[in-house]
Amino acid sequence: MTVINDNVSRRKFLSNAFMTLGVGLGLGTALVRAGQFLMPKPKAKEFDEILIAMDADIPEKAPLPVEISGNKALLLRTTEGLVAFSRKCTDLGCLVSWDSSREEFVCPCHQGVYDKNGKNISGPPPRPLDRFDVVKKGEMVYVKVKV
Ligand code: FES
Repeated sequence: MTVINDNVSRRKFLSNAFMTLGVGLGLGTALVRAGQFLMPKPKAKEFDEILIAMDADIPEKAPLPVEISGNKALLLRTTEGLVAFSRKCTDLGCLVSWDSSREEFVCPCHQGVYDKNGKNISGPPPRPLDRFDVVKKGEMVYVKVKV
């Protein structure tokens, strides 16, 4: 009479099956990680370009008021090309205006004055007006804003 010990072969089969599954999962994970290392995700965009004006709409000697992501700004032709200045005074944040007779930005709150390149030239403002990077593509004028 032959006795077949099914328990031993079943135990060995299950042991081999779990070991094979474990090794398979380990190799799969290693392959996925190696793929991520070799082909990293593209960096997320840091800036968006927003269309703010057409070049023909910008006067020669005066700034064009624009709004950039909720911030009031003035787009102006300078010796450096087109520049968009934030209207927020760098002293306490009042809105600066353009004085066309003096060709300067003036702040009504404490008489801060900035030249046409946005540099603070008199009064309490501690630094120049903030600028937005302007990109011109043909006739269209864009500014770069952080995403
Ligand atoms: S807020 Fe503009 S000069 Fe003070």
